[in-house]
Amino acid sequence: MSWIDGKTRVVGLIGWPVEHSMSPCMHNAAFQARRMNWVYVPLPVPPERLKAAVEGIRALGLRGVNVTIPHKQAIIPYLDRITPEAQAIAAVNTVVVEKDGTLWGTNTDAAGFMEDLRAHGVAVEGRPVLVLGAGGAARAVVYALVRAGAQVTVANRTVGRAVELVRHLHTVLPGRTLRVVDCSPSQLAIEAERHTLLINTTSVGMWPQVDASPWPAGIGFGSIETVYDVIYTPARTRLLRDAAAWGCQTIGGLGMLVRQGAESWRLWTGESPPVEVMMQAARDVLGV
Ligand code: ATR
Repeated sequence: MSWIDGKTRVVGLIGWPVEHSMSPCMHNAAFQARRMNWVYVPLPVPPERLKAAVEGIRALGLRGVNVTIPHKQAIIPYLDRITPEAQAIAAVNTVVVEKDGTLWGTNTDAAGFMEDLRAHGVAVEGRPVLVLGAGGAARAVVYALVRAGAQVTVANRTVGRAVELVRHLHTVLPGRTLRVVDCSPSQLAIEAERHTLLINTTSVGMWPQVDASPWPAGIGFGSIETVYDVIYTPARTRLLRDAAAWGCQTIGGLGMLVRQGAESWRLWTGESPPVEVMMQAARDVLGV
C-alpha cells in the first residue's frame, strides 16, 4: 500500500469475524479512484473487547468505522449519541468521530435501500408494499418505506416478531399505515392481489440454500409488479428468478449493500461517493 504516509486518514470495520467482508475492497477502491489519502482496514473485535475497541477508535484518531455483527446493537451504550435512524432501526452500522473526539452512530441501511429504489425508478409514496421478514434487515427497510410514505404490510414466519417491529416503528413514526399478516400461502395469495411491490428481507434463498424461496410455491405473484430481494449472494435468488418468470421487474440486494457503504463513505469524507466504482469493486469480489 504505497500511498500510506504520515497523513493517511484511517477508517475501518469492526465486527467478529470481519474477514469475509466486501467493505474494505469497496471503500479502498473509492479512495483510490478519487486519489484520496485514506485507507479502510478490517478490525476484528471480539465481543468482550468492544468497549476497549471503541475507546481505541477515539484514542487512535480514526475518522470512523462501520459496525457489523455482532456489535450493531451492543455498541450503542459506548457512543456519545445516535441518530434517529439508528434509534428507529435499533442498530448502528456507521460511527463517525468528530474532531473533539465525540463519537456518533447512525445507520445507513435505510438510506442505502431508498437510494437503490430511486436508482431503479421504483416510487413508494402512497404505495402498498409487502415486506417479508421482521429481523434486522426488515427494521431498516420498513423504517425507510414508512418514512417515505408507503403503506407497509409485514409478513413474517414468527408473527409476534412482526408485531413487535410494527409497535416499535409506531412509536418512532406515529400515525403511519402499518399492518401485520401471517405467512401462510392463502394469506400471501390475498396480499399478492393487494400489493404491487414485494420486498424480501428474510435470509431464505441465501447461499448455500439457493433453491429455497420465501414465497410459497404455486400461488403466483398476483398484481405484484416489482420484487426486491435484499439478498446479494446469489445475485439472482430463486425468488427473483420465479418473479421474473411471472413478468415482474426484479432487483437484487447488491445495490443496497453498495449504497449503504457509499453513505458511510460520504459521512466520513464529506464528499460525494463514486458509487459506480464501489459497485464494480463489489461485483469483482462476488464475481458477478
Ligand atoms: P437479518 O438481520 O439478516 O434480518 P434475522 O434478524 O435473523 O437476520 O432475521 C431473519 C429473518 O428471516 C426473520 O424474519 C426470520 O423469520 P423469523 O422471525 O420467523 O425467525 C426469517 N427467516 C429465516 N429463516 C426462515 C425460514 N426458513 N422460513 C421463513 N422465514 C425465515
